[in-house]
Amino acid sequence: MRNRKSEIRNPKSEIRRPDLSVNFAGIKLKNPVMTASGTFGYGEEFADIIDLNRLGGVIVKGISLKPIKGNPPPRIWETPSGMLNAIGLENPGVDVFLREKLPFLGNYDTAVLVNIFGYSLEEYVGVAERLDGVPGVSGLEVNISCPNVKAGGIVFGTNLKAAFELLSAVRNATRLPVIAKLSPNVTDITEFAKVARDAGCNGLSLINTLLGMAIDIRSRKPRLANCTGGLSGPAIRPVAVRMVWQAAKAVDLPIIGMGGIMTHEDALEFILAGASAVAVGTANFVNPRATVDIIDGIEAFLAQEGFGSIRELVGQVRMA
Ligand SMILES: Cc1cc2nc3c(=O)[nH]c(=O)nc-3n(C[C@H](O)[C@H](O)[C@H](O)COP(=O)(O)O)c2cc1C
Repeated sequence: MRNRKSEIRNPKSEIRRPDLSVNFAGIKLKNPVMTASGTFGYGEEFADIIDLNRLGGVIVKGISLKPIKGNPPPRIWETPSGMLNAIGLENPGVDVFLREKLPFLGNYDTAVLVNIFGYSLEEYVGVAERLDGVPGVSGLEVNISCPNVKAGGIVFGTNLKAAFELLSAVRNATRLPVIAKLSPNVTDITEFAKVARDAGCNGLSLINTLLGMAIDIRSRKPRLANCTGGLSGPAIRPVAVRMVWQAAKAVDLPIIGMGGIMTHEDALEFILAGASAVAVGTANFVNPRATVDIIDGIEAFLAQEGFGSIRELVGQVRMA
């Protein structure tokens, strides 16, 4: 007897689902939603809560050449609509990452971008070289918001010359797509976007956290042991959307937009401003399912508004 089920037409299957896929600097993403570095560990930490296969990509926590212990506590302080953190880029170093962290993500069908950093140009280059040609790594996101201890602590990401030299050196050290993660702690973000382009980077990621500080008025001590920390969350979103919009107009590079994305509406703001993909950070602490909720929300929005692909919306903010 023939299976009657196969003869029943399913009206739902005839509705075309919007295409969420994005080719970001040669990296194929099934949808534009990734996890922001440092807020999603190495993926394993969230694997019991969400299906990692649903993510466009995982941008892992920052990796350096050698292990780093991080800052003493307190390292996190909640602020109005945001969070200050001074974790101090704690991580096990690139060798342990390759041996113990990366293989887990290989079990999933999602792009893996490795966020790298260092305290000298040579350290950045060393990590980039270690990751070159490693199966399962789709690209490098270079966190340039670090001080160069060999050059008096000048922050790579806030000095045009230092940023150019660093990004050029990393570009020459790997065959992987190189995405420059820009610091928002600058006067003109477009100058740094242009430096990344001139150094041969394949994409931009912005924004990293804004430098902030909070003080306990009774003890008169800073809330963070490190005194200052990086501000993230909804408090920084309008700044981030503005910077993505300015960078997208200044250079012809694809952008991963981030900064305070909590909902699919927030993510779509970044896409209209010019981002081809987005990353979700602080929201993961509030709602560990935020990424999948955002993916579902984007898909539903596109279907409701009659768009066939997310790509139709990139940079489509109307100016008049
Ligand atoms: C706890 C914490 C740790 C972070 N660690 C990193 C890191 O290792 N490397 C990096 O480039 N950015 C790091 N970031 C910055 C985020 O990736 C992101 O750029 C920023 O938080 C803005 O996005 P959000 O407001 O959605 O969190 C960290 C942010 C937080 C809150």
